[in-house]
Amino acid sequence: MEPTIPAVNLRLQFESVREEIDASIRQVLERQSFILGPEVQELEQAVARAQDCSHAVGCASGSDALLLSLMALGIGPGDPVLVPAFTFFSTASSVVRAGATPVFVDIDPRTFHISPEAVRQALASHNAAKPVRAVIPVHLYGQCADMDALSEMAKQYDLHMIEDAAQAILARYGRRAAGSLGDCGCFSFYPTKNLGGAGDGGMITTQDASLAERLRALRDHGSVKNGSVKKYTHACLGINSRLDTLQAAVLIVKLRHLEEWTELRRKKASFYRAAFSDTGLSHPSAAYPTREAPVVLPYVAPDAGHVYHQFTVRAYRRDELARHLATKGIESAVYYPIPLHLQEAFSYLRVQPGSCPESERAAGEVLSLPLYPEITAEQQSRVVEEIKRFYSS
Ligand SMILES: Cc1ncc(COP(=O)(O)O)c(C=O)c1O
Repeated sequence: MEPTIPAVNLRLQFESVREEIDASIRQVLERQSFILGPEVQELEQAVARAQDCSHAVGCASGSDALLLSLMALGIGPGDPVLVPAFTFFSTASSVVRAGATPVFVDIDPRTFHISPEAVRQALASHNAAKPVRAVIPVHLYGQCADMDALSEMAKQYDLHMIEDAAQAILARYGRRAAGSLGDCGCFSFYPTKNLGGAGDGGMITTQDASLAERLRALRDHGSVKNGSVKKYTHACLGINSRLDTLQAAVLIVKLRHLEEWTELRRKKASFYRAAFSDTGLSHPSAAYPTREAPVVLPYVAPDAGHVYHQFTVRAYRRDELARHLATKGIESAVYYPIPLHLQEAFSYLRVQPGSCPESERAAGEVLSLPLYPEITAEQQSRVVEEIKRFYSS
């Protein structure tokens, strides 16, 4: 049975821009130039502008954006890289794909972001043969990580900083933009992202012209460009990870509407907050859910320009609540149910359960409620009513 209130609804958004997308795709098909066509460059320039960066380089996915960034910064075999233990898998698997070693760091329980205090401890206690080379803060759910504290430590310990901004296009950190705060920022255009394509896609933003140049070479087999394309001349070992021109054609159209869609996400998030405050289910100062205050609403840092990729609460008896909602036709999602240090794929790193307690606790409590620009007030009210019904039974 289709949920009556899905977690996301891509069709509604598509209907609102169908004609523009049809025309944009048709242009690519008429031109029959599919690899690094002009739409890719146009999108790169538009994303660079939107994220206050001088350069942007399209690639095949957000995961490849992370891999290419590591490669371009010269991070490779055996280099330790700090990553949060609570994030999407590829934040850390990209480190392994680059030959480097992820070092899992616990999160701040309020924001779900990598904890600067835990980073400080990891750096102070690091005693492996190789020094830590980089940190990858993740702007999880659409809000920037604590970049001031992290930048200070990156300076002190001479670390590269790669922002995983896959969920944070248009997010601000005070006056600055996600993707402009570290050496580079990695974006994903996975279809359900705030700016989603009709398939996979990704982009890297940076202020550094020579880094951008290396990224352009690396995404295209290490091809030498130097202004004019020199075919079959390879300066370094790159990969094939170009952003598809057809995807760029779709994304250019959607980017024109993204400010407006993001504003709608913020309004819908405010609606949930107001609706929950009427229920008495959540206590503003509670950090964790309890029987008395079973829902903890998302914390927003002062000065954060949150883009609400997700509206993620902590919920008491989370799995039972999710099942109850599902029986009422309301879809919810758990991002993410297993912290990375406990994933089988990383068992070779031998990180013990209990070593990142906040990540482990978050994995058992988080629940993302339906949120997309087109969700209606009635639908949102029903979500909150059903949550209230669950806890009062
Ligand atoms: C935090 C985070 N990092 C990385 C990625 C990887 O992006 P992609 O799916 O485009 O490879 C995603 C999205 O899936 C993500 O949410």
